[in-house]
Amino acid sequence: MVEYNITLEGKTVLVTGAAGFIGSNLVMRLFKEFKDIKVVGIDSITDYYDVNLKYERLAKIEALGRDWTFVKASIADRQAVDKLFADYKPAVVVNLAAQAGVRYSITNPDAYIESNLIGFYNILEACRHFGVEHLVYASSSSVYGSNKKVPYSTDDKVDNPVSLYAATKKSNELLAHAYSKLYNIPSTGLRFFTVYGPAGRPDMAYFGFTNKLREGKTIQIFNYGNCKRDFTFVDDIVEGVVRVMQHAPEASPKSSPKGKDLGIHTADPMMYEVLRKRAEEMRKHPTEAESVLWNVLKANGLGVKFRQQHIIEDFIVDFFCNEYKVTIEVDGQCHNSFEHIKSDADRTARLIELGYTELRFTNEEVLNDLDNVLKKIKTFCSGTPFPSGEGRGEAVPYMVYNIGNSSPENLLDFVTILQEELISAGVLPADYDFEAHKKLVPMQPGDVPVTFADTTPLERDFGFRPSTPLRHGLRAFAKWYKEYYGK
Ligand SMILES: NC(=O)c1ccc[n+]([C@@H]2O[C@H](COP(=O)([O-])OP(=O)(O)OC[C@H]3O[C@@H](n4cnc5c(N)ncnc54)[C@H](O)[C@@H]3O)[C@@H](O)[C@H]2O)c1
Repeated sequence: MVEYNITLEGKTVLVTGAAGFIGSNLVMRLFKEFKDIKVVGIDSITDYYDVNLKYERLAKIEALGRDWTFVKASIADRQAVDKLFADYKPAVVVNLAAQAGVRYSITNPDAYIESNLIGFYNILEACRHFGVEHLVYASSSSVYGSNKKVPYSTDDKVDNPVSLYAATKKSNELLAHAYSKLYNIPSTGLRFFTVYGPAGRPDMAYFGFTNKLREGKTIQIFNYGNCKRDFTFVDDIVEGVVRVMQHAPEASPKSSPKGKDLGIHTADPMMYEVLRKRAEEMRKHPTEAESVLWNVLKANGLGVKFRQQHIIEDFIVDFFCNEYKVTIEVDGQCHNSFEHIKSDADRTARLIELGYTELRFTNEEVLNDLDNVLKKIKTFCSGTPFPSGEGRGEAVPYMVYNIGNSSPENLLDFVTILQEELISAGVLPADYDFEAHKKLVPMQPGDVPVTFADTTPLERDFGFRPSTPLRHGLRAFAKWYKEYYGK
């Protein structure tokens, strides 16, 4: 059951980047859902892409005739931000203003530092001095860098950004954590995964594909179309943001990580289901050594840190502690066949790659030398935990969630559906020769074949996960595109 602790009725909400793709959709949605709400928008209307699109979005909001105030200013302008907070005293702030895009940061790094770092810092300072009930801000799936482990989980270590954009987004999360901790500002970071939809961003691949197909040009599909991405429909993102806005994280989270399956770590949902059932069975029927060890972990206050029979990618580990990046393997009776030895070795190698330390104990060690076993485990669980818990369980009113489609779509399927919907909407002629306008090419260096979000925490806390079918979302985009460009 979702626990909301913030009422938006009767409140003032500040949305930065309100003329942007997600921002404008959010403002429309807030007016639709709440009868008595004041929304203040700020946007500097950067010319990163066609500004007409931004003015059209603002005109649509204006046309609703609701309690709406728009200020054209930059969040990097400290005075403008302070004045806005002083004038309107927003109860909830949603920071979406940012310089987006990965490629643009190569040629225009200043824009990222200004909007994403100085701008975000100004918002944090204003939240601190004027007091807000909840700061929600956009982060990005790009913080996962070239992480090969899927699905991407907020429990993953994300210290290796591969673009300036990603570095600024990760910095936002770190700055927010510090402000949440120091000044008790409840903050929630949302890592959005490839958002698409009507009046979307022209710099994004699906939009570029559409322009090219319409102009009769050829589109390049990387990795021969075998990339899987979690394209997320904008309405799903907005639904998630609106839910999250109404629940400020608390300094002492009621839900402890104990016993909850916080990380699904396998690429294939069917395989995950098989593993999940197996792990459940193993939990129900532990070996004697596993049972003894679990009891001693609990008796020594480590029960909250460890999870039993946890799934990591295609492996099940006996005990798992993310906070200290350690797993424990207790040899059962059947670890001596060649097959098991090989699979154990594969798992150990993969765990090392993922930054975990694997502690291994034999049944005899656990049963006959328990003190020593416990000493070794305690050594790993002392000192400073790894900073990848993203606030979960810490006494800081801070959370980070993924909002993305957790069923990744094949790029080729995505483009095929897009092309079909563009034909249905009349953007492309009925006899459009799609085959002649697509070129399947190899993977670009640094690209990862599969990215998708683990949305378990979002589902757990908000009872929601993005699920709009691709065809539905692309149909809405194609219709809008026809109306906008087909005039
Ligand atoms: N669209 C996606 O796929 C996606 C994915 C991950 C994260 N995000 C993040 O979500 C947020 C919204 O993205 P979007 O897709 O709506 O992008 P967008 O570019 O359409 O919207 C951002 C808006 O912020 C404004 N802006 C930029 N710098 C500003 C500044 N200094 N002061 C005031 N306004 C400023 C821009 O004019 C723009 O209208 C961004 O923070 C983005 O990084 C988006």
